[in-house]
Amino acid sequence: MKKNVAEELKRLKESMEMLEDLLDTAYYGMAIVDIDGKIVKWNYEKLMGIKEEDVLDKNVEDIIENTRLHIVAKTGEKELFEVQKIQGRDMITSRVPIIQNGKIIGAAGTVLFKDVKELKSLVQKLEMLEDTVHKYKGEIKRFHKTKYSFDNIITQNKKMIYLKEIAKRAAESNATLLIQGESGTGKELFAHGVHRASLRKHGPFVTINCAAIPKELLESELFGYDGGAFTGARREGKIGKFELANGGTILLDEIGSMPMEMQAKLLRVLETREFERVGGNTRIEIDIRLIACTNENLEKAVEEGKFRQDLYYRLNVIQIEIPPLRDRIEDIPILAESLLNSLSKDLSVPKKILEFETKEALKNHVWPGNVRELRNVLERASTLCKDDVIKIEHLPEYLNKKVFKEDGYSEEDSLLLKNIVARVEKKAIKKAIEESRGNKTLAARTLGIHRTALYKKIELYGLDW
Ligand SMILES: Nc1ncnc2c1ncn2[C@@H]1O[C@H](COP(=O)(O)OP(=O)(O)O)[C@@H](O)[C@H]1O
Ligand SMILES: [Mg+2]
Repeated sequence: MKKNVAEELKRLKESMEMLEDLLDTAYYGMAIVDIDGKIVKWNYEKLMGIKEEDVLDKNVEDIIENTRLHIVAKTGEKELFEVQKIQGRDMITSRVPIIQNGKIIGAAGTVLFKDVKELKSLVQKLEMLEDTVHKYKGEIKRFHKTKYSFDNIITQNKKMIYLKEIAKRAAESNATLLIQGESGTGKELFAHGVHRASLRKHGPFVTINCAAIPKELLESELFGYDGGAFTGARREGKIGKFELANGGTILLDEIGSMPMEMQAKLLRVLETREFERVGGNTRIEIDIRLIACTNENLEKAVEEGKFRQDLYYRLNVIQIEIPPLRDRIEDIPILAESLLNSLSKDLSVPKKILEFETKEALKNHVWPGNVRELRNVLERASTLCKDDVIKIEHLPEYLNKKVFKEDGYSEEDSLLLKNIVARVEKKAIKKAIEESRGNKTLAARTLGIHRTALYKKIELYGLDW
């Protein structure tokens, strides 16, 4: 018995606390009625100018226009965020039944907004906020910490191991890095690694692809602009990538595509470590490490007058030149292994293995798209392959022409005339292309065939490099 009383008290206390919460969140007060719709609690004095002592024990319908509190006290069903006309205004109200021991004992009503207009302006504010949040989301994304570290660079190639060492050491300093290499060789991966291993690892890592941004917009993307800097500019101005990267690392990808005028400004910024926003004149100091990536030969671009020599020297403090995958065939199996591992995680499927022939085909390919291409090929194969073993037919056609593989003929096959012809043709085409230094028109002339015929054969034999 005693225990029951204690529990009862506890529950009562809890419901009091619940009501207090309601009272706190109600904007304009609350009214409580008993099961007969008589008012037992009133704090609408401010809202309606009526005192509690004047309404206690009166029928709520006689006091509040259009009320439904007495109805909720009967039905026990709550009515949330309803519009109710009181004193000529559309108010937003909520009504909830009060239940004790499973029995309805009354109902409580609150006014959340004393005018629908108020709600509308709140909605507008929310929409504006949402808009702002949306705008900044993009920027914040770039603030994201780097995803990769040096441990994610898989290699057993001597030169690559050496490059990783250099990059690790460079990471400790503040030096500018120039990372060169064909597309898909892992330049970005190295840049992530450097940031992660540096003292700036807790700062932002901001990337901008110079080739992806129209020439006219690049300057304001990099350095931002002040309000009203040009027609169409945002009134409040815009912060640039250099400012976003302050205290961290900025990666200028495809720097070879940077227009000459921008190169001049970049050089000045690197020398003075400060800049002005477009249309502004306050100088902004920056503390950043710059990493530049390119798949073009910058030295050649300098010779051709497309890239400023002084900027090239400025960037070329520490140079990392990542070899293409075809020059480190020993990396193909371990890369494939690691990529299959992460693919199985990404696709949540059991890890697939490669059949011997598949491995051979992967090793024989020249990988113009480097590790990125390898990843794509394995991803495609993983989805095509229904069981756990990736066979050669799961590779794209250009990779599975086993008939024409250098030493891949069986004894009978190697005597087939078409294969003998193919072997000879392949050799001749290779030689002609080499001698013409990749000039296909010239190679076709040497071979005495039409250029389109040559292209067809190059594709057929997988000689496309
Ligand atoms: N050595 C490597 N080990 C593991 N993954 C690699 C390696 N090199 C490249 N990748 C992967 O290949 C893809 C392309 O790399 P990325 O750094 O974007 O190349 P790049 O910037 O040179 O075009 C990415 O998915 C990357 O994770
Ligand atoms: Mg890249």
